[in-house]
Amino acid sequence: MVYQVYLRSFADSNGDGIGDLAGLRSRLPYLAWLGVDALWINPHYPSGGADGGYDVVDYRAVDPEYGDVADLEALVDDARRLGLRVVLDVVPNHTSDRHPWFQAALADPDSSAAARYHFAPPSDEPPNNWQSLFGGPAWSRTPDGRWYLHLFAPEQPDLNWREPSVAADFEETLRFWLDRGVSGFRVDVAYGLFKDAGLRDNPGSYAPTLFGHGPEQAMTWNQPEVHEVWRRWRAICDGYPDTMLVGEVCLADLEQVARYSRPDEMHQSLSFRLLKSPWATESFAEAVQSALDAFGRVGAPASWVLGNHDKERQVTRFGGGTVGTARARAAALLMLALPGSAYLYAGDELGLPQAAVPDEAKRDPIFFRSGGTRAGRDGCRIPMPWNASAGVGFSPEGAAEPWLPIPAEWEQYAVSRQTRDGGSMLTLYRRALALRAALPALGSGDATVGTRGDVLTVRSVGETETVRCVVNMGAGTVLVPCPGSVLLASTARVHHSAGSIALPPDTAVWVTED
Ligand code: NOJ
Ligand code: CA
Repeated sequence: MVYQVYLRSFADSNGDGIGDLAGLRSRLPYLAWLGVDALWINPHYPSGGADGGYDVVDYRAVDPEYGDVADLEALVDDARRLGLRVVLDVVPNHTSDRHPWFQAALADPDSSAAARYHFAPPSDEPPNNWQSLFGGPAWSRTPDGRWYLHLFAPEQPDLNWREPSVAADFEETLRFWLDRGVSGFRVDVAYGLFKDAGLRDNPGSYAPTLFGHGPEQAMTWNQPEVHEVWRRWRAICDGYPDTMLVGEVCLADLEQVARYSRPDEMHQSLSFRLLKSPWATESFAEAVQSALDAFGRVGAPASWVLGNHDKERQVTRFGGGTVGTARARAAALLMLALPGSAYLYAGDELGLPQAAVPDEAKRDPIFFRSGGTRAGRDGCRIPMPWNASAGVGFSPEGAAEPWLPIPAEWEQYAVSRQTRDGGSMLTLYRRALALRAALPALGSGDATVGTRGDVLTVRSVGETETVRCVVNMGAGTVLVPCPGSVLLASTARVHHSAGSIALPPDTAVWVTED
């Protein structure tokens, strides 16, 4: 299981209100105790700060707010001693507008640096109809009137991957970090990089409600040339033992997503069906089955994501309060039963809800670029509550205010509290991960998915045992046959007698077959 660390919000060691590498390092024993195999750290690079670190100024350095390269090496070493691997985030689709290349390109339109971006000569209209994913047109003007392309914020100019020096530089970056012992990379916007060579208009526009980009955005994403990049990156990683590449591939068609993890490309590609599925058996079953089919065809493990730093927290998405929490607990058992790689976003193991962030404290460019019509992603990026004390132990005592405000009532979610509570979300995750590590049927079985009314079942056959995960997504209690034993339940309210289980609404169980 890969645990996603939102570095800025994980643990602050020096009291400036910002999470950092030393803070994360001090919390590694927690991650080992929880049962994590690897951690993926959101971008740690010097950044312009326009998009939570995804606007990188220097790819071979550490933002001084987070520490330095020696801190990262110490983190990797400590992690390895605890059996944890460290995966970094790499951002090849765009740089920061403060990156030396873009600065050089602004200063001189004829420079070699300018060839590394997409510029167009001054004119009244932008070169095409492309839209920024954060709202508004994907083209902005330079002070001298030229247009430049940014599929995200204007502070994130898109790189021109048809220019060979761009590729060469990223390959050096990969080696730089691999030489320092990291175990690989999560690749941001891996379905991007190349654009239509003629920069032609898109046939349609993207709606955030879709599962991912499709034919309506055919000119901006998923160009065939990008697969050659992943082949080269794969060859580099193959030179370092036990490393991996996992791509963010936000495409609607899972067959297309799976192509990014063909045997000579990345090891895994992240898809987001589960993350976007409403609480209903058909949607969940379809999400699971289509991923098993698509990834099965290329021989890659499917990846499962229920939460990340871009989406509303699960508990809230599933209805909030007791219902949302019950469903998030059940969803955890479903995800951890599935074969493949599970991704757990920091704080989801505590059942954190989406926080209401006052407008004046917001940081996300989505909020600002949508003129406040989209709430933005700050509410899922709040600092972690560690202790049930004022300040919840994110920073040392007497520290500056945290970079995003922590809701006062979050003491109830603190790690210290949940470790002592046998019924907590944290305890559930820990037990589930321990079983997953012990039983091959969980996480690496041969799975079949079935539905009956509001009940979803995943049956996983492992080498030595068969486990069924049964989820009741309906409003009434259902009777589930259970000839074997109950391994784990998402609720204490499960009654097992005479070969069957009474499974309440919004709960899940893991049962053996004999
Ligand atoms: C995907 C990242 O997950 C998101 O946080 C970021 O804003 C965009 N890529 C742009 O880099
Ligand atoms: Ca700090």
